[in-house]
Amino acid sequence: MKPPEFYRGREQTYLKHFFLEKYLERVAWNILSFRDEFVYVDGFSGPWKSEDEKLEDTSFMIALNQLRKVRRGLKERQGRDVRMRCFFNDNDEPAYNELAKAVSAVDDIEIKALCRDFEDVVPEIVNYVGRSFSLTFIDPTGWTGFGLQKIESLLTLPGEVIINFMFDYVNRFLADPRPEIAATFDPLFGGPAWHLEVGRHTQAGHSREDAILIVYRDRLRKIGKFPHVTSTRVLKPLAERSYFHLVYGTRHWKGLVEFRNVEKKAIDEQERVRGVAKITHRVERTSQTELFGKGDEKLGPRSSDEERNKELSAAHAKLQEILSARGSCKYETLIGEILEIPLVWKSDLDSWLTNLRKGGQIEIPELKGRQRTPKPGHSIIWKAN
Ligand SMILES: C[S@@+](CC[C@H](N)C(=O)[O-])C[C@H]1O[C@@H](n2cnc3c(N)ncnc32)[C@H](O)[C@@H]1O
Repeated sequence: MKPPEFYRGREQTYLKHFFLEKYLERVAWNILSFRDEFVYVDGFSGPWKSEDEKLEDTSFMIALNQLRKVRRGLKERQGRDVRMRCFFNDNDEPAYNELAKAVSAVDDIEIKALCRDFEDVVPEIVNYVGRSFSLTFIDPTGWTGFGLQKIESLLTLPGEVIINFMFDYVNRFLADPRPEIAATFDPLFGGPAWHLEVGRHTQAGHSREDAILIVYRDRLRKIGKFPHVTSTRVLKPLAERSYFHLVYGTRHWKGLVEFRNVEKKAIDEQERVRGVAKITHRVERTSQTELFGKGDEKLGPRSSDEERNKELSAAHAKLQEILSARGSCKYETLIGEILEIPLVWKSDLDSWLTNLRKGGQIEIPELKGRQRTPKPGHSIIWKAN
């Protein structure tokens, strides 16, 4: 994909593409290590606000390049030929025409491209995916056109989904008293009464933003029948406020580990890119050249550190709660529940478990000799009660 300088003024798009590029590579590699086929679906594919002749700053082109890279890697390292297919859709005719032209030149990956409303095209996508594993990317411009009920058959496929939840827009209009606006939010949340649930979560002490995300994730979990749902936040380039959240549904705890690993990289990238954007903005405003050293740490406090500390406390408390309430738990069950919390990595869980074991609060009978970190299948047994 293009470097961050290319995305000046739209750093949030760079971060979205950064995330997609890294995550798609991981999931395609993992799935194709034991299956022969992988399908990628982009329901709102654009191109949209692209500034590159070759469209290398679009999600569909980034995906195609990444899929090729994975296929090459599998051939080189495992000598295997795998099949990849893509379904791209955009309901805007000029965008679709550009998309169709770009993909007509692709002859090494099977592609189906349509110009329809996403919700209407769901049956065709489901049919196209068939019994393969799919990753579906839903990247709308607002909060309409991907109602959870309408896309249920796509969500329940044996694959994964990443949805760009445009929090900034949702938040601005959510409290709009006009009934015609309020009604547009029911499909987003997959049915009515979501505002009562948001209210319950805010009363329980969550911020409004967290409450909205909790409700959306819960609804996605239920309608998509996902055992694991989580999200990661992308901030506005120049303000300490959220732009959007990438909400992720998966059927396997390993997906969460990969998602969080990519989040870890994306957080560092976000700090760096936003730091540069802020300085550039200031310089432009004051027409002065600012001198700064080589370390981005000089750009001010790392806002995501504060956020991460908050999530770490919540995760640590949840871990103790799970263990003390259940007495015993499989390691992978803990990964599945703890890594749903944003900004909590597997290494955090592992170090908590190591410390709890050292302190005699838990036992992990399957750990042998000098082994410190549990493995899937190991039991974590609570001893502290
Ligand atoms: C944010 S842009 C997508 C950007 C693209 N995913 C990327 O990252 O390069 C959203 C796209 O969705 C299209 N769109 C909007 N509503 C749609 C709908 N209901 N169904 C399909 N496409 C839609 C727009 O034309 C626009 O190109």
